[in-house]
Amino acid sequence: MTGRVALIGAGPGDPGLLTRAAIVRLRRADLVLYDALIDEGILKYARHAQRFFVGKRAGRHAVTQQAIHTLMIRAARRGRNVVRLKGGDPFVFGRGGEEVLALQRAGVQYEVIPGVSSALAAPAAAGIPVTHRGVASAFLVVSGHDDDGFTSAVSQVVPNGVTIVVLMGLGRSSAIAEALIGRGWSRDTPAAVIVDATKPEQQVWRGTLDELGSDTIDIDATGPGTIVIGEVVAIGARTADEITAEEKTMAAKV
Ligand SMILES: C[S@@+](CC[C@H](N)C(=O)[O-])C[C@H]1O[C@@H](n2cnc3c(N)ncnc32)[C@H](O)[C@@H]1O
Repeated sequence: MTGRVALIGAGPGDPGLLTRAAIVRLRRADLVLYDALIDEGILKYARHAQRFFVGKRAGRHAVTQQAIHTLMIRAARRGRNVVRLKGGDPFVFGRGGEEVLALQRAGVQYEVIPGVSSALAAPAAAGIPVTHRGVASAFLVVSGHDDDGFTSAVSQVVPNGVTIVVLMGLGRSSAIAEALIGRGWSRDTPAAVIVDATKPEQQVWRGTLDELGSDTIDIDATGPGTIVIGEVVAIGARTADEITAEEKTMAAKV
């Protein structure tokens, strides 16, 4: 008997964004080890499987990372089809790399099914293109969780030149804004915070980098949130009044 592990990205929250490849693996799973933020509508595909929550609860890990490795390896060695289900994409700030290394060392067969990362889905769900011709030709996805990692990543980019997407940064939004302003980013740079992206309860705040730093964001941030900083933020938010006469003339020709 040889079991295997499928490391699957569950997407940002909306079950409609789960891939077909993920649904196939969930349907034939015997065991599902899932993280926080996984919608019940996604878990229901694994109707024949045992399901274990192994994510973080109130800042504490329900199960240690080492215990997750052991659970996956033992179950696969017993011939079981294991699904390791993670929010977004398994390799974007999800410790998926560590889990793959553990499976390799144990000689367990595995596959990785990519998921739609909130790094892309959250801006898109708020109508923000992370790249836009003539405005931003690149984007940086960075964790806002620790100051050193954030500062080192943003020091690699020219101020105001790219879009910055910050995951795990809601609790440090003012420090993040101050760090960027300190590195030469304009205080007027448009910024957005998207909470619970792609879910019915999605909320979007829009303002400037200066306002992001002022702790006056009017948003209920109990759910997961993504911060987007850059001129592209203004694109999705334009009102009919902001469309120029030249653009209206072009549109009339279509
Ligand atoms: C540990 S990271 C995992 C990221 C995940 N692997 C991915 O690709 O989306 C968790 C962070 O992702 C972001 N996030 C996850 N789901 C989100 C959602 N529905 N809306 C906004 N941000 C989300 C938040 O910044 C959250 O703190």
